[in-house]
Amino acid sequence: MNHFAPRADFSIRAATLADAESLAEFGARTFREAFAADNTAEDMRLHLASAWSPQLQRAEIANPALDTLLAFTADGFLAAFAQLRADYAPTQVPTERAIELKRFYVDSPWHGTGLARELMAAVEHQARRRGARELWLGVWERNPRAQAFYRKCGFEKIGTQIFVVGTDPQTDHVMLRKL
Ligand SMILES: CC(C)(COP(=O)(O)OP(=O)(O)OC[C@H]1O[C@@H](n2cnc3c(N)ncnc32)[C@H](O)[C@@H]1OP(=O)(O)O)[C@@H](O)C(=O)NCCC(=O)NCCS
Repeated sequence: MNHFAPRADFSIRAATLADAESLAEFGARTFREAFAADNTAEDMRLHLASAWSPQLQRAEIANPALDTLLAFTADGFLAAFAQLRADYAPTQVPTERAIELKRFYVDSPWHGTGLARELMAAVEHQARRRGARELWLGVWERNPRAQAFYRKCGFEKIGTQIFVVGTDPQTDHVMLRKL
């Protein structure tokens, strides 16, 4: 995508390979902050090791099926990121024109500020550019704030799926919205 500048305070752009290291640090930290209290230390360790490293994020950024969007503050700090995935959907997603919103994380100082809505607008923009008609996502059944945010954005629950954190098979709500 091209540079997407929804309002003066934040700028949102596609990640490049040069962002892999800071994204790996940011992604692991925001996941830990969001979920460490509700998972064992060992499950967190296993999950973080399997999902976050500069090498893994380099591969994701280079993967043509993924779009990684980064939101920066005016003074250049990474404040949020989102990842879209175009090559997979579970059976309950009833369309071939749906793209997954695979990850969506806003750093805690910016929760409730509107940045999440701005990042979602950039996600929608990018999904449309890919030709998608719907967005789908999985969100943990024990993450009511994210569920409320997604409902505000027009997503509705259509089913469930399992997401394994370390050794723990957790139930996610699968949510879908039209674009
Ligand atoms: C999920 C996330 C992106 C949402 O962004 P946000 O800026 O916090 O979202 P908003 O504040 O606009 O909306 C959240 C809504 O949930 C509500 N909410 C907060 N805590 C809640 C709770 N425990 N139960 C139900 N609703 C809750 C808020 O009141 C708000 O609704 P309102 O605007 O009508 O008052 C952000 O919280 C985040 O990054 N969280 C940590 C990572 C995460 O969970 N990512 C999603 C993974 S699927």
